[in-house]
Amino acid sequence: MKLVVKGGRVIDPGTGVDGLMDLRIEDGTIVEVGENLKPDAAKVIDATGKVVIPGLIDVHTHLREPGYEWKETIATGTRAAAAGGFTAVCCMPNTNPVLDNPGQVTYVLEKARREGKVAVYPIGCITKGSRGEELTEIGYLREAGVVGLSDDGLPVENAEVMRCALEYARMFNLPVISHCEDRHLAGDGVMNWGPASTAAGLKGIPASAEEVMVARDLILAAATGGRLHLAHISTAGSVRLVREAKRRGVAVTCEVTPHHLTLTDRFIQESGYDTNTKVNPPLRTDADVAALREGLADGTIDIIATDHAPHHTDDKEVEYNYAAFGISGLDTALPLMVTELVGGGYLTLNQLVEKMCLNPARVFGLSRGRIETGGRADLTIIDPEERRTVDVSRFYSLGKNSPFLGRELTGWPVVTIAAGVVVHGEGK
Ligand code: DOR
Repeated sequence: MKLVVKGGRVIDPGTGVDGLMDLRIEDGTIVEVGENLKPDAAKVIDATGKVVIPGLIDVHTHLREPGYEWKETIATGTRAAAAGGFTAVCCMPNTNPVLDNPGQVTYVLEKARREGKVAVYPIGCITKGSRGEELTEIGYLREAGVVGLSDDGLPVENAEVMRCALEYARMFNLPVISHCEDRHLAGDGVMNWGPASTAAGLKGIPASAEEVMVARDLILAAATGGRLHLAHISTAGSVRLVREAKRRGVAVTCEVTPHHLTLTDRFIQESGYDTNTKVNPPLRTDADVAALREGLADGTIDIIATDHAPHHTDDKEVEYNYAAFGISGLDTALPLMVTELVGGGYLTLNQLVEKMCLNPARVFGLSRGRIETGGRADLTIIDPEERRTVDVSRFYSLGKNSPFLGRELTGWPVVTIAAGVVVHGEGK
């Protein structure tokens, strides 16, 4: 397939490009970047007035397959990814069965090759069965194609097991992704602990439940030299700990979700106890949101990742205490971040591309995330002017569990091109 993307503002922090430019694509590769390129029998996509960026990469997606296909499948999750402007996702291993052996990883890769709209990179379990007791065969998982290790959804409670994971994973240059939660401190809390939980009459999860584990894992990363990646950090204390560890040269990276950057615990009561606000870690306070935004801007936080956690309405249309934790995020992540963070003056568009394309590729060792001649043609075209209200009935994800219903956002992706093929927009 031959394409020419004409007249858009191309932004690529990886190569330092920011300007009006045309791109020529042939057989999945960008073959020319320049001005006034001739169509030469290629299909032309007019990007005048639009912004062209490298395809987004989500390093924290729950595709739910195998085992929970009523919540999401590889086909629907990657379709939602394409609609959200993502051309690659890293999928979490808390499926059923979990991805703790090469056979399971191969299954996901094979299914993704046949049914996926965008590239899928599996994350393998840190421990067998995600039980936190015995390490998986990390070398074999690596050979099968995992790009990181995590027991996401659950912490590795045993510090010696986590220490060994960091040490072994280091030999294979894999990041160990920590779901930072002390389950004893979290107890059976359902929202952030503080004035808002008291007012709402719900049990709280204190910030310390996250921070204790962040501190522990930073100490273990420093002791082993292993590569630690902290998933979905949500508190000002976590930002402070990571900032300080980075200053000391600890090999740590971390991510934050769009919902933790835009919603607070007060919204739970304000929304009438909308169970779509129930997520783990929980929505925090204004001060936490401010610290997360600051951490992104100063480089403490490397990546914006969705933690796309689709659930069936049966899991959410229950009392707050019984609802499943999780937010469906792929469909809305980009316009939310363009509207709230770029529009609010917290990040430049260039920085946003760094957090959603360049850094995800760097941290997870993926050869993508840039716009360059000879590089893979993964592109997202954004319409900075398009205003649209979030409507979950238009979500491509099976998970309609979004707390952003009814929000008016700008910066929607209008065309997504994965490996040179239009996978969203242009009538797709
Ligand atoms: O809210 C969450 N949902 N947090 C997690 O860590 C796991 C996820 C899920 O799998 O539903």
